[in-house]
Amino acid sequence: MSKIAIVYGTSTGATEGVASKIEKVLGNAETQVFDVARVTVDQLKPFDFLILGASTTGYGDLQDDWDSFLPKFKTLDFTGKKVALFGLGDSSSYSDTFANGMAVIYEAIKDNAEIVGAVSTEGYTYDDSEAVVDGNFVGLALDEDNEFDQTDARIAAWVKDLKQYI
Ligand SMILES: Cc1cc2nc3c(=O)[nH]c(=O)nc-3n(C[C@H](O)[C@H](O)[C@H](O)COP(=O)(O)O)c2cc1C
Repeated sequence: MSKIAIVYGTSTGATEGVASKIEKVLGNAETQVFDVARVTVDQLKPFDFLILGASTTGYGDLQDDWDSFLPKFKTLDFTGKKVALFGLGDSSSYSDTFANGMAVIYEAIKDNAEIVGAVSTEGYTYDDSEAVVDGNFVGLALDEDNEFDQTDARIAAWVKDLKQYI
């Protein structure tokens, strides 16, 4: 069983709420949840499974606290670690940059980290997203602004998929 850390970055609380839901669905007593605004690279070293969550701000930009931490986070030694990503966005008001924040983290670590938990774009409505690579989202995309009624089912399916790696 992996030691799991969930690291979220939030501006208005939505990503924090999703982080708690994921923690509950994982049902793993070893899981620890960190706000990226306060976490250090050293704190993350002991974990072998990192679940990273971020919302999107501006026009397709990474959430501010995550954006500040990312240069340091990139220095983490990812040997033996697996990473899964989740990203919140608004597929209606920001249909051209849906959940792009997740893509910024992905791009920063993809050459060093083993990233698991890609998700089919089926069932999502948006015009464009940099978080889509080879036809799938690089992690779990969620829309708490318009599709909150789908969040629980999307989390359940994703966590079920992740369990093969944990
Ligand atoms: C100023 C602003 C800019 C945003 N830009 C985007 C965007 O480019 N793409 C997107 O998918 N969502 C965008 N969103 C939507 C947020 O990512 C979404 O509301 C999210 O649930 C907020 O999560 P948080 O409260 O954890 O920060 C934006 C929201 C705000 C307020």
